[in-house]
This record gives sequence, C-alpha cells and structure tokens, in this order.
Amino acid sequence: MEFSLTTEQREIQMLARDFAEREIAPHAAAWDRDHAFPQAVFSKLGELGLMGVCVPEELGGAGADFLSYILVLEELSRADAGVGVTVAVHTSAVTLPIVGFGTPAQRERFVPELAAGDTLGAFALTESESGSDAGSLRSSATRDGDGWRITGSKQWITNGSHAGTFLVFARMDGAVDGPHGVSAFLLDGSDVEVTREEEKLGLNSSSTADIRISGAFVGRDRMLHEAHRGFAVAMAALDGGRIGIAAQAVGIAQAAYDVARRYAVERHQFGSRIADFQAIQFKLADMATEIDAARLLTHRAAWLKQQGHPHTLEGAQAKLFASAVARRQTGEAIQVLGGYGYTKEFPLERYYRDAKVTEIYEGTSEIQRIVIARHILARQDDRAATATAPPSG
Ligand code: CAA
Repeated sequence: MEFSLTTEQREIQMLARDFAEREIAPHAAAWDRDHAFPQAVFSKLGELGLMGVCVPEELGGAGADFLSYILVLEELSRADAGVGVTVAVHTSAVTLPIVGFGTPAQRERFVPELAAGDTLGAFALTESESGSDAGSLRSSATRDGDGWRITGSKQWITNGSHAGTFLVFARMDGAVDGPHGVSAFLLDGSDVEVTREEEKLGLNSSSTADIRISGAFVGRDRMLHEAHRGFAVAMAALDGGRIGIAAQAVGIAQAAYDVARRYAVERHQFGSRIADFQAIQFKLADMATEIDAARLLTHRAAWLKQQGHPHTLEGAQAKLFASAVARRQTGEAIQVLGGYGYTKEFPLERYYRDAKVTEIYEGTSEIQRIVIARHILARQDDRAATATAPPSG
C-alpha cells in the first residue's frame, strides 16, 4: 500500500490550492451573498487545465489521473463549494461519460471544448416526479426520420443556466417503463430553455435550474452509447460523480476545521486559550479524525476507479461517510466559535449551509445505503454459497 501522493498529484493539488486561495476564497462570501455565478473563474480554471484534469491529453485535457481530479475538487470546495460542484458535474457527469461511452466522433466534437472550459456541461437526469427513482423518468425521445425529437422537463440541473452541452436522459417511443427504457443524448444549450433558477439554502455561487426541452431534434450522432442503455451511462457517471461529491464534502469539512482550529488557539476565556479546554480539544480531535477517514475512503474509491476496478460500492461509502462528516463537523465548528460562528463575520455558517446538500444530490444518503446494502448482501450471498459448496478436489 502506498499512501503518499506522487509528485505530479502534489503539483496539481498545489496548483489548485494556490488558485483557490488567490482567486476563489477572497470572493466566496460575496458570491454567496449575491448569488453570483463566477463565470470568469471557469475560464481561468480551463487555462490551468483544471476543467479537464483527468481527460486524456489527445482530447484536450491535462491527462492526469482521477485521483488528481479528486484532489482538485477538494481544494476548490475548500474555498467555495459552489465552484466545486460546478466543476464536479461538468467533469464527472458530462465530460467523462462522453470520454467513456462516446464514439470517436462524439469525443472529438464535444470533449476538447469541455476540457478547455470553453463550454460547461450539465447532466439532465432528474425530473419533478423522478428523483431517487431515476429509472422512472418520463422525458421522451420520439422517432423523427433518422433521429429523435426530445421533449421533457428536467429539474435541479446543476449548471443548467450556463451549460453549452447537456447530457439528457429520455425514454424512446414504445420503450419499457423503468431503467431499461432510458437512452442518453447530447444536446446543445440552444436546444434547452431555462424555466427557473432555483433558490437554495446554500451553494449560492452555483447554478441549479429547471429546464424544458420542446421537441429538439437529435440525430444518431447525438445518442451516447446504445439505445435503451442510457441508464447504465447515468449510473456509471454517478459512480464516479459520487467520489467527486465525497471530495467536495471533505473540502468543506476541512475548511470548517481550519477555521475552528485557528480560532481555538486565539480565543481566550476563563484566563486560557479555549484550545486548552478538553471540550474543545475533543471536538477538534473528532473533526481531524473524521475528516482523515473521509478523505481516505474518497482516495481509495478514486484509486479503484483509476485502476479500472469496480468502485460503485466504495464510491457510495465514501459519499455516505464524507457527506455526514461535512454536515456534522461544520455544525461542530460553529459550536467552537459560539456566537461568532453563527454570524457572517466568519465563513462557517456558509460551510454549514453548503454541506447539507452533499447528503442529497448525486443520490441521497438513503440511496447510497441502498447501493451499499445491495453490494454487501450480494457478496454475503456469494460467501454463503461458497461456504455450503462441497470442497473441491
Ligand atoms: N453501473 C452500471 N450499470 C448499473 C449500475 C452501475 N453502477 N447500477 C445499476 N446499473 C444497471 C443495472 O445493472 C440494471 O441493468 P441490468 O438489469 O441490465 O443488469 C439497471 O441499471 C437497473 O438497475 P437497478 O435495478 O439497480 O435500478 P433501480 O431502479 O433499482 O435504481 C438506484 C437503482 C441505485 C436506486 C438508482 O435509481 C439511483 O442511483 N438513484 C439515485 C439517482 C441519483 O443519484 N440522482 C442524482 C441526480 S444528478 C445530480 O444530483 C447531479 C448534481 O446536480 C450534483
């Protein structure tokens, strides 16, 4: 086992950290207050190669590994989780599925622009009546000549108001109900109408929009993967995406811990630093330990993915754990600061609001538990079967 980062991974981590500290963190409170989407940041991230960190060089990416990308998401989210989710959805849920499932022509056409940050990607799966039960979606793809007309409304689409490429999931004429009837299509921003920008508890620097698609025509060259195999595209995208959200949660929790630790050694009450009180020490000890554990789970899942190993279970475990750590420990960090933590003088209340959604999007914590339970029970069934099988030889 090797727990240290490679030189290249460390360099990418430092590149992202420096950029986040200089260009993101100083503005994050204002973006949050004004609900401002920092478009210019994504162009600059593109210039640094951070909008396509783990995209192959021949497709315009930086050609680094998936763990490097995960390190970037943690650093961006540490400064502003809204920037983190914008990059996460753009990369994990749109660019990488095109790299993985696209034809050579689709890769050539869509990936370089996305990897350069010239175009943002959006992942359009969820509908008002189809959230956790993603396979029940009703958007339709109706045959028209040698292509299809896509019609439907999608909800809570990250990057929806700013994206130029949409990965849209729809059900074809006559397709069965449920996951097996779903196909995946690549649409342009001009095919999509934004009907509403969501007001959220947090992540105010990110865009979350409702969109409508009214009979946009797509040819066969816009279908990603095979007909009726779109659900596998969505699930594979989310398998990687959930590792990204785990990294986002780690970044938020780390940011909260940094503020709490700094405050604890500066603040004096009852004649001593509050860091000298065991009540505060225990909080910091728990934070440091849980963040470390969340990061290790996240890195393990990322490593498995980049080795080409199955990572559905480990990604779900990382997201389940890291998101709970972020929600719990941002609250504890506020507690360390007391009244100050509850004010906008410190960023903790923003971290607290931002953390909550990591337990909701890209599959709620309850869905992660379903995914985990299905895997571990299937494995136990295997073991039970092995245990009862007669010895070989
Ligand atoms: N990879 C590849 N294929 C997969 C898969 C995976 N991880 N998981 C399932 N599939 C395949 C299955 O093998 C099955 O196909 P076969 O029958 O041919 O084997 C098919 O997909 C259906 O699978 P299930 O029977 O498991 O489907 P289900 O209806 O029980 O749903 C679920 C499974 C895990 C609950 C799924 O619906 C799910 O993940 N729900 C949550 C949805 C979600 O995460 N939404 C996020 C929205 S995007 C977002 O949040 C982005 C953002 O803005 C930040």
